[in-house]
Amino acid sequence: MKGGGGSPTSLFLFLSLLLLFHFPPFTSSKKYTPPDNYLIDCGSTRPTKLDDGRTFKSDHDASGYLSTEEDIEVSVDSIPIPNALPLYLSARIFQQESRYTFFISQPGRHWVRLYFHPLPHPSINLTSAVFTLQTDKFVLLHDFSMRSNSEIVFKEYLINTTERFSIVFKPKKDSHAFVNAIEVVSAPDSLISDSATAVSPPDTITGLSNFALEVSYRLNVGGPTITPRNDTLSRTWLPDVPYNIFPEGAETASVEPGVINYPGGGATPFIAPNSVYATAETIKHAQVMQPNFNLTWKMSVDPSFSYLIRMHFCDIISTSLNDLVFNVYINGLMGVSYLDLSTLTNELATAYYKDFVVNASTIRNGSIIVQVGPASNLESGQRNAILNGLEVMKISNEAGSLNGLFDVGGSYKGGYLSNKLKILAGVALAAGLTAMLFLGVVFIRRLKKPHGYEKRHSFSSWLLPLHGSHNSFLSSKSSSRKSSLFGSRKSKTTGYPGCFSNQGLGRFFTFHELQNATQNFDEKAVIGVGGFGKVYLAELEGGTKVAIKRGNPSSEQGLNEFQTEIQLLSKLRHRHLVSLIGFCDEQSEMILVYEYMANGPLRDHLYGSTLPTLSWKKRLEICIGAARGLHYLHTGATHGIIHRDVKTTNILLDENWVAKVADFGLSKAAPMEQAHVSTAVKGSFGYLDPEYFRRQQLTDKSDVYSFGVVLFEVLCARPVINPKLPREQVCLAEWAMNCYRKGTLDKIIDPNIAESISSESLKKYIEAAEKCLAEFGVDRPGMGDVLWNLEYALQLQEAATQIDPPDKTCLIALDEPNGKNLKEDLEAAAVNDNSQVEVASTVFSPLGTVQGR
Ligand SMILES: *[C@@H]1O[C@H](CO)[C@@H](O)[C@H](O)[C@H]1NC(C)=O
Ligand SMILES: *[C@@H]1O[C@H](CO)[C@@H](O)[C@H](O)[C@H]1NC(C)=O
Ligand SMILES: *[C@@H]1O[C@H](CO)[C@@H](O)[C@H](O)[C@H]1NC(C)=O
Ligand SMILES: *[C@@H]1O[C@H](CO)[C@@H](O)[C@H](O)[C@H]1NC(C)=O
Ligand SMILES: *[C@@H]1O[C@H](CO)[C@@H](O)[C@H](O)[C@H]1NC(C)=O
Ligand SMILES: *[C@@H]1O[C@H](CO)[C@@H](O)[C@H](O)[C@H]1NC(C)=O
Repeated sequence: MKGGGGSPTSLFLFLSLLLLFHFPPFTSSKKYTPPDNYLIDCGSTRPTKLDDGRTFKSDHDASGYLSTEEDIEVSVDSIPIPNALPLYLSARIFQQESRYTFFISQPGRHWVRLYFHPLPHPSINLTSAVFTLQTDKFVLLHDFSMRSNSEIVFKEYLINTTERFSIVFKPKKDSHAFVNAIEVVSAPDSLISDSATAVSPPDTITGLSNFALEVSYRLNVGGPTITPRNDTLSRTWLPDVPYNIFPEGAETASVEPGVINYPGGGATPFIAPNSVYATAETIKHAQVMQPNFNLTWKMSVDPSFSYLIRMHFCDIISTSLNDLVFNVYINGLMGVSYLDLSTLTNELATAYYKDFVVNASTIRNGSIIVQVGPASNLESGQRNAILNGLEVMKISNEAGSLNGLFDVGGSYKGGYLSNKLKILAGVALAAGLTAMLFLGVVFIRRLKKPHGYEKRHSFSSWLLPLHGSHNSFLSSKSSSRKSSLFGSRKSKTTGYPGCFSNQGLGRFFTFHELQNATQNFDEKAVIGVGGFGKVYLAELEGGTKVAIKRGNPSSEQGLNEFQTEIQLLSKLRHRHLVSLIGFCDEQSEMILVYEYMANGPLRDHLYGSTLPTLSWKKRLEICIGAARGLHYLHTGATHGIIHRDVKTTNILLDENWVAKVADFGLSKAAPMEQAHVSTAVKGSFGYLDPEYFRRQQLTDKSDVYSFGVVLFEVLCARPVINPKLPREQVCLAEWAMNCYRKGTLDKIIDPNIAESISSESLKKYIEAAEKCLAEFGVDRPGMGDVLWNLEYALQLQEAATQIDPPDKTCLIALDEPNGKNLKEDLEAAAVNDNSQVEVASTVFSPLGTVQGR
């Protein structure tokens, strides 16, 4: 959200309006006077008066709140952003950890509003500043930075404070922190109640007051922007238009704000000003054919958090009571069925609101979807639905954070049960438990090597909630420090504070330990190099081999990817995903420790090496494994995760040839909160979904596309891009589709295996691959379908080669480097397969061959 500018209007007029149209029981309290009201224009030499009447203290007047060693003020005369508040014209820069402390006369929820704009400074580049911002109990921003000097960022939080409330700026090593303005202002106690309705499963949950909230969206549905001037709590309400996914089906309704009633209990002018209730979106019947058409709003959110959703309703369209009955859905789930505002308020044009909590696990595609639609099977009444206002607030997670999984002490708190609300509502874990126990067994088995890993990292520890089963993070967090099943968090032997800071993530490795394991990161141990850094093969004490990915600490992108990877991997466990064993973040190192995949990347077994050729069956099994891994990412336990970089070098093979998907550095659970920041296209050339490239819109179908390219790469055993070829053949995806259309695909199949493939199996396989490469995402199948087709292709292959002893067909030894000769099981296949594929073994693409060294 951006800080609102706005047109000048007089408070006097507003007040007189309020007097003209009174709201029954609340006439006296319509104006809120906050007991605590700290407004600071950081870096400013003078107090700053905004046109909403509020005055921000000058930096000097506010210096008493600040404790810091050295800091710098900057200010400019103007900034190139239209309608920006004057608050952005100055800033204070912190070169080391600095703290504002406020005395709070009335503890309870307070607004914390922060204004950021990286002003130019002769020697300090604020666009490269990276810092963490936290209160005593909550992390508000973790490793925050701003992308460009034409950006302004406004952050708004609601935090339950104690008598002393601090805001701490922590610059990252060798960096700076800054802020342009700060507000710490009381909010009425009645604003956020302690309970809300959980959508899935339907339930009432309590304990909300223990969480910090961050405002993600606040929309005046069907109406214009409402600036702090028109809201006694100084909130900004933005129009809903950008989020309404089918505005053609919506019609705005509005009445004079003065006619809005506030009921005796429930909504008050503090909950939302009458100008919010006085406008709404309703269904435009002329445009809508479907009888049960829904109005739908879609908002991007960070899907690793849970959200409080507040919906504001007010029937400003009916002419009689009980005429408007509709359903409310959140993320496709029923929020309220047969909502009849008349019954709830006994009057028309009366404000009503309802709070819902959505569980991170119901967030798909990184969006919160709110819908209202007429209730079906109604005998009478109008077929309509209404929404007047909508607020989405992020709820702090189990790390006490609103940004990432690091707590105020800097420890990483990721874990399987990342969403404390699951515990709050007493999630029925039965099914999950069984599945996890099963996985746990698999995992423990894998770990059962003599000295390999610490026992306490057994998977079973994942089954336990991070902080016991209390109702609040806060109380339970402190108690878990005192006594924890996993022993003290401080390792006495090494004295290293982070040692077992996070059970969910597996083991913490010291830098020293990893130095030993790699002979001080010897170049000889390097088994791969990626955008993130180098990958080393290492041997831990006890002889366990692991792969170590060491990030380049200076790379900001690396840092983000490191965090993404830790966050994602800590939640993901699957036979077909490469497991994270642990990590090291000592001395600003970013090192991830993975299980070692003895047989390396799939690509090495397809071309460009002297490794033996993989049989068709083995290739199918590998593709099936990888497809399972991706399918799990897209639909599995956590929520829709898009890999973004599916390619044959990211499909690794373990010593038993089990395929596992690796490298989540680029993964994206969803576009993040700021919808205006478009996702920069990432991925690998040759695999990139053209639709994603064109529209920069990321969906799981982009992975499906890349996987289709992988399927052709596996079939043809040639690089996805080979510039040395004639132009039409350079790009495999294009060339393969071309051949498919011309019916000549069989000519480009890897000649080493062409004759061993049963024609039915091939047909099914090509069908799957071809569909994946559909031009438009919507036409591509989901990974589940692809998987099904591949499994079917494997069955067909097996049926065609039944005589082969199953295990001998895995590998075909390559006798000659050019791989022209046929192998035993290949011959067997040819004998058994009567419906031959029309492939001459002499057809030999110069590219697709195995190059001898
Ligand atoms: C805001 O208040 C002013 C009076 O102070 C009024 O003229 C204006 O219409 C109000 N805006 C909205 C959106 O209600
Ligand atoms: C400031 O840092 C950003 C990001 O590191 C960089 O893109 C920009 O060019 C730098 N600006 C100046 C003036 O050095
Ligand atoms: C703030 O927290 C205290 C202690 O946890 C609690 O008693 C109080 O009700 C909370 N206030 C609000 C407004 O949530
Ligand atoms: C309205 O939304 C609900 C929930 O997503 C859905 O079940 C229903 O089919 C939708 N109605 C129409 C006509 O699309
Ligand atoms: C996610 O997005 C894709 C493509 O836009 C769509 O087909 C799919 O139904 C969406 N999933 C959910 C759960 O909304
Ligand atoms: C979260 O959603 C999942 C899947 O819909 C459900 O099983 C679980 O019970 C939900 N938990 C809460 C607290 O709503």
